[in-house]
Amino acid sequence: MTSTISKQRRVLVTAALPYSNGCPHVGHIAGAYLPADIYVRYLRLAGVDARFVCGSDDHGVAIILSAQKEGRTPADTAQHYSQRQLKAFEGLGIHFDVYGSTSRTPQHASTSQKFFLKLYEQGYFEKRTAKQFFDDSKNMFLPDRFVKGTCAFCKTPEQNGDQCENCGKMLDVDTLIDARSVMSGTPASVKESSHWFLDLSRFEKEVSTWLESATVREQTKNYVRGLLSTGLVKRSMTRDLTWGIPVPLPDADAKGKVLYVWFDAPIGYISNTMELCARLDGDEARFADWWKSDDTEIYHFIGEDNTIFHCVIWIAMLSAERSYKLPRGVIVNQFLNIQFPGKEVEKISKSRNTAVWIEDYVASGSNPDVLRYYLTAIAPERARTVYKPEDMIQRNNSELANVLGNFVHRITSFTLKYCGPHVPAFPEAKVTDVDRNFAKAIQTTHARLTQCLEQFEFKSGLETLMELARAANKYADEKAPWVTRKSDMETTAVTLAYGLHAIKYFAIAFAPYMPFSAAKIQEMLGLSKEECGWAQATDPLAAGRLIKEPQILFTKIEAEKDALPSVA
Ligand code: MF3
Ligand code: ZN
Repeated sequence: MTSTISKQRRVLVTAALPYSNGCPHVGHIAGAYLPADIYVRYLRLAGVDARFVCGSDDHGVAIILSAQKEGRTPADTAQHYSQRQLKAFEGLGIHFDVYGSTSRTPQHASTSQKFFLKLYEQGYFEKRTAKQFFDDSKNMFLPDRFVKGTCAFCKTPEQNGDQCENCGKMLDVDTLIDARSVMSGTPASVKESSHWFLDLSRFEKEVSTWLESATVREQTKNYVRGLLSTGLVKRSMTRDLTWGIPVPLPDADAKGKVLYVWFDAPIGYISNTMELCARLDGDEARFADWWKSDDTEIYHFIGEDNTIFHCVIWIAMLSAERSYKLPRGVIVNQFLNIQFPGKEVEKISKSRNTAVWIEDYVASGSNPDVLRYYLTAIAPERARTVYKPEDMIQRNNSELANVLGNFVHRITSFTLKYCGPHVPAFPEAKVTDVDRNFAKAIQTTHARLTQCLEQFEFKSGLETLMELARAANKYADEKAPWVTRKSDMETTAVTLAYGLHAIKYFAIAFAPYMPFSAAKIQEMLGLSKEECGWAQATDPLAAGRLIKEPQILFTKIEAEKDALPSVA
């Protein structure tokens, strides 16, 4: 039997699960969470069945170290930050359908263990004793971030034991030089311990095939091609730690060992989807619609440092496990640097206090859309870019307030004043080429914007929209309704109706980028949810429709202190 009803497109979007030992700053937002949120909001407006999954990444040494510093258990630390993270995201309008936790989401441990066992049963793990860094004074193994040293690949000093921040490569006993214990500061010694290794080289073909057909930016592809060309190696998927998911093997050597955090973390995407389906569909098993069904597309949004884990190890893991779908795409952004007034460009760093924290931004009462706008305008999509506090103020003033806000405000207030609170009717004969060209620009903008969003080109999409906003202001200046109203009310009506048409378009088209402001415009125009679909975005407003009092969308910011949470 064939069905003529075309199925609704189904897309699962994930954003990297942040380590729950800290809170998000502007770099995290620009890197993964904001583009993912923009994409999900766009999909929903376009009628796609989209789900947005995130949660905290609670295991691993990073959390243990923070817990020690803060004098509490890793579990408490994880829960504390997980909750703060969610609040910060929500404050910026980044809205996940589920925000799970790899230590608390009930399905996570068992899903991870089953995943591990499936690989084990298929013979993908090789158990062997391997050299591990060890702290003699503390009598403990020093996996991952418990050691610091110099990256053997690029020679950058002060790198964590798991991954080089500079070149992105994974590090281990053989590739971290002059390792020192973070626990005691003493040089790390080396001791043997049994671990389960996944031979990644067995999946080179799968990873490469996936890479060539997946939606991955060309530069990311080149980076991964480079990793593949030097050959993949065996990687231990277990660790000598007490915080984590126990290695599920009936083997004496497995005792006291846990899964490597980068083994269980991406499985969090799956377990959090289970939790979501349990809540939303009342049936956890429905997660299969998203992870096992051929007509779902999965996209992971991540920052550059997560590339190797998502584009190599995760793909190898999924290929070995076999029952889950591979992602259709991995969208990788580069890092964001920062430059404070009068200072050099620097890396965003928690320890050096060179970060702008989302919590602070939200608490200061600043407009979340301004930050969303600015971080998209400077999105590090292909290269590292620089966040400059004064630049954000400047763009708020000259672009959001002066261009977009000004246009919306003058057209609506003029309409209220001279056309009653209604969209004016006008005689067709009064429509000129200037009006027709402006209406055409709305159509072409929409086509281009849609293409940008479909291709994950969020920055270009926003630029396209702002071009239209500038054209709209020019249109208003050229048509000068404040002049024509004295002699030609019909032409004035044309201008206002076309202007309102553009405003209605902005109310929908800007919604993925600046949801708070878009909602205000929708309210001013009395648009219902049904009228705000992507397909209806360019439909004009019917004459006679009621317009409400204009609301201020963006206020000009005079000094830095007005705009930003203080930075020490
Ligand atoms: N916790 C990692 C980080 O903050 C990201 C984990 S993403 C996941 O860099 F796939 F592993 F979940
Ligand atoms: Zn390096």
